[in-house]
Amino acid sequence: MRSLTNAPLKIAIAGLGTVGAGTVRLLREQASLIEARAGRPVVVTAVSARDRSRDRGIDVEGLPWYEDAEAMANDADVDVVVELIGGSDGIAKAVCETALARGRHVVTANKALLAHHGHALAKLAEDKGLTLAYEAAVAGGIPIIKALREGLAANRIQQLYGILNGTCNYILTTMRETGREFAEVLAEAQALGYAEADPAFDIEGTDAAHKLSILASLAFGCPVNFAAMHIEGITNISALDIRFAEELGYRIKLLGVARRTEKGIEQRVHPTMVPVGSPIANVEGVFNAVVAEGDFVGRSVYEGRGAGAGPTASAVVSDLIDIAAGRRAPTFGVPASALETLPIVPMEQHRGNYYIRLMVVDQLGVFAEIAGALRDEDVSMEAILQRGRAPGETVPVVLTVHDTREEALMRAVERINAIAAVVEPARIIRIESF
Ligand code: HSE
Repeated sequence: MRSLTNAPLKIAIAGLGTVGAGTVRLLREQASLIEARAGRPVVVTAVSARDRSRDRGIDVEGLPWYEDAEAMANDADVDVVVELIGGSDGIAKAVCETALARGRHVVTANKALLAHHGHALAKLAEDKGLTLAYEAAVAGGIPIIKALREGLAANRIQQLYGILNGTCNYILTTMRETGREFAEVLAEAQALGYAEADPAFDIEGTDAAHKLSILASLAFGCPVNFAAMHIEGITNISALDIRFAEELGYRIKLLGVARRTEKGIEQRVHPTMVPVGSPIANVEGVFNAVVAEGDFVGRSVYEGRGAGAGPTASAVVSDLIDIAAGRRAPTFGVPASALETLPIVPMEQHRGNYYIRLMVVDQLGVFAEIAGALRDEDVSMEAILQRGRAPGETVPVVLTVHDTREEALMRAVERINAIAAVVEPARIIRIESF
């Protein structure tokens, strides 16, 4: 369906940081291509940001400038408000709500906002017959929202998983390539501008979990349920575990995994060992990737840049072209009222394979005690390895266990941690056979 008008689509941009400035630039430099594809021009007619004097590398002379983004969403004569401020609440939420209440479509890159309020905002947009579009919110330039909502719409998605945070992937890749520890690589990433000054949302897994909660809603037709997400970050990953992973034929990635099971939905973000030959293992540096498995399509893999001005602006403008062209889709694939709440499988009930790394005093009988704790909880050991011999000294010992229920493993590990010769708490990393 084409838009019924050739009049320009007028947009207001709230937030002129890296992505906002990149969006203005893209709209200008690709104006004729965008007009051809949208059937009408897409023009910025209002902007809002705090600091007017900052050099953003774009000319904003002549554009109505609003100090207050919410006032812009309310007052500016526009068809679409593009929210690029960020944050789950506060001004970003107010801008989106005001824009929708005033009958303007909303395009946002704000995954935190959608993770917390996506369902309510989708309802609001739907009640008003408006679009709430957010291609840029997940995996930056990878068009994964459209892929799930449109390209794979004929499939039941059984599972999807992905590398959804470029900062973490960069840190893990650099740790593997250089053998350095987490803290040192993080500090370097911050100095290079690859990690935020406050990197907590990235390294603790929150950002990836925001994105996964949105993908799970689209994939399984359920309301976004960020509160039920299991989240672990990468702050405990050591260079030693990365070396052992390599020896065992794995790479460690921070993965978001959403899986449909007989008991409900698993949705979890945590460091994961994946076989070195799997597509996801070879997505390195700042790149993101998503793998979706549907019942008719099988496995499909999407890889690209998950952040940065160009890739994120590319996603924002794709949403604007859809709106300009009159292409509409329900926010999460089906009308908000048709989204079905599904049970979430608690992590204790997860069954899987695990890597456990211990630091133990090298003395007779320690292996027997460890094996006993596992046996008592019915945890089946797959491999055990100790590198080097140093009687009386501390050495690393690695175990892998398979097809184990997580709560049984955790009970066994609690007992193992209490063994006198085990000198620090076990490090546990889940293994997936993707
Ligand atoms: N901070 C995110 C990342 C990019 O490191 O991937 C924006 O979502």
